[in-house]
Amino acid sequence: MQKRIVFLIIINLVIILASLGIISHLSIDASINRSLENRLALANIVGQYIDHVLETNLKRLYDISLSGKIDFHDGEWGPERKALKTAFEYSIFTDRIFLMDTYGNVVIAYPHTEEERVNLLSIPYVRRTLAEMKPVISDVYTVSPTLKKVIFALVPLKNKNGEIVGVAGGEIDPTNYLLAHAIKSVYMEPDTYIELMDSRGVIIASNDPRKILTCSQQNKFLNVLIADRKGSVINCHRCKESYPGNKRERDMLAFAPLSVAPWGVSVRDPREKVFAPSISLRKGFLVLSVVSIFTGLLLAVGLSKGIVRPIHSLIGATQKIARGNLQDPIEVSTKDEIGTLGVSFDEMRIRLAESVESIQRYSAELENRVADRTRELLQSKEKLAVLLREVINAEEAERKRIARELHDDTSQSLNATMISLDSIISRFSDYDPVGKQLRQIREQCMSMLKGVHRLVNDLRPPVLDDLGLESAIKWVLEKHLGERGIPYYITTKGDSEGWKARFQGVPDYGKIELVLFRVIQEAIINVSKHADAEHVFVSLIFGDSGIEIEIEDDGKGFDLEGVLESARDGTYIGLGLLGMEERIALLDGKLNVWSEPGMGTRIKVYVPILT
Ligand SMILES: Nc1ncnc2c1ncn2[C@@H]1O[C@H](COP(=O)(O)OP(=O)(O)OP(=O)(O)O)[C@@H](O)[C@H]1O
Ligand SMILES: [Mg+2]
Repeated sequence: MQKRIVFLIIINLVIILASLGIISHLSIDASINRSLENRLALANIVGQYIDHVLETNLKRLYDISLSGKIDFHDGEWGPERKALKTAFEYSIFTDRIFLMDTYGNVVIAYPHTEEERVNLLSIPYVRRTLAEMKPVISDVYTVSPTLKKVIFALVPLKNKNGEIVGVAGGEIDPTNYLLAHAIKSVYMEPDTYIELMDSRGVIIASNDPRKILTCSQQNKFLNVLIADRKGSVINCHRCKESYPGNKRERDMLAFAPLSVAPWGVSVRDPREKVFAPSISLRKGFLVLSVVSIFTGLLLAVGLSKGIVRPIHSLIGATQKIARGNLQDPIEVSTKDEIGTLGVSFDEMRIRLAESVESIQRYSAELENRVADRTRELLQSKEKLAVLLREVINAEEAERKRIARELHDDTSQSLNATMISLDSIISRFSDYDPVGKQLRQIREQCMSMLKGVHRLVNDLRPPVLDDLGLESAIKWVLEKHLGERGIPYYITTKGDSEGWKARFQGVPDYGKIELVLFRVIQEAIINVSKHADAEHVFVSLIFGDSGIEIEIEDDGKGFDLEGVLESARDGTYIGLGLLGMEERIALLDGKLNVWSEPGMGTRIKVYVPILT
């Protein structure tokens, strides 16, 4: 969250700075353009002034023709000289004014010079004037052999009859006062240069005297502008050749061409000066950006910490609560929304602590109650176990008593009856009907005696006492299945004899064996009574700590849940499945029954023997 706040503030700041920068850049650009336009306007004004000066001088030359005194053939040169003198005095022609014929021969000059009669046809400007018969103002021209630099102003010359008879020309010193004055009269800031230059870039006049008659670097480009009579603002550089010792510098140049002469006026400023506002804006803006981003960053971090820290402490407090610590109060350090949130959290904590306390109290009460109930249940279970044990004991004692009575009393009486019957029967012949009846009674007594013996055996099988559990189980299997033709298979794991010897000393061992025997006996009787089984499998495992017995038949099976339900309802009593379960539970053992109609039945009994 802290990072997000810092990021958002910085983005905001950057957007503000960028917008500010763009607006300032645009307005500075507009002001630079305006100042460049002003420079161009200045160059135009100076150019127009110089045009005016040149035009005035061309007029002076035209005035010679207009004087009506020109006649090369009358042999009189006085009138021509006078016209020349007048023109010279009212012009800026510094060196001389001359008239030439159509062959380029100078016929008269004022003031008079030695080379008066020379032919000037070699000068291209002269040739041009003669060919075109139009006024021409030359660039700075170097006259040979004197190497004097002059500017020619040439116009067609007419005689007094109005016929063109040659050219009237004037020579202007490039350093002429009027031209220089036109340039110097304009106030320029230091570093700003105003220059008058010809079409070849030769500087005719400048506010920097060092540059007069030197060559401007941009002559080619300016030549094009002069030819096109176009003003422009251009980007150029000043070479160190023109300023020995100076480095190459970039300039902004506003250029206005003249209309009378193939010249132009340039106003030149170092680029740094023109763009100084933009550069200083950029620098200032850079400093402002760095400072504002830095302060913004500090602000953002401070602000986000101010927000995030209390939130973190709130998160820590809620985590404590989540871990279950409801005792430590939540510290609230601010009075803003987060502070209010903290107060609400603390109220929640107090309520939660109260409800947790009441829940704990309630659950402790509940636990006590459950413990009481459990204790009561255990006590009643123990009582039940004692009762059940007593019932088993009583049942076994009763079985023994009945068996003894049947054996000692009933069977002895039957034996005595049979002995008495035998002595009476011997008195009757085999064909005597009374004898026959007596023998039938004796047979009935005999079968009664057998029944009594079987009953005695069932009530108290002698094999369990004499031969042990394994033999007793085998005896039951044979008696209830084998004798009825149901095949059974018995497997034994472990040493049953050694096992018996090992656990003989364990208290209640006899009772364990007896309960196990009764349970197995019941299961086997159930198979013989209900299963209609074709095979019965019995497995005995005599383990180190207990015994496991499994009885499985492939008979018709039954609905286990339904039977147990009706057993619990008390529909029947006795050693049924429920009785088996209860008896095994008394020995801390386990009884599992698996059965489904048509799927046979499997019963597994496990009883631990605790030494
Ligand atoms: N191996 C078996 N195969 C098929 N049915 C069985 C088997 N064992 C038990 N049953 C069914 O379970 C019922 C309950 O058996 P349980 O031993 O509890 O009672 P019982 O044998 O009918 O009566 P009692 O055992 O009291 O003389 C039986 O009536 C019988 O329908
Ligand atoms: Mg039964």
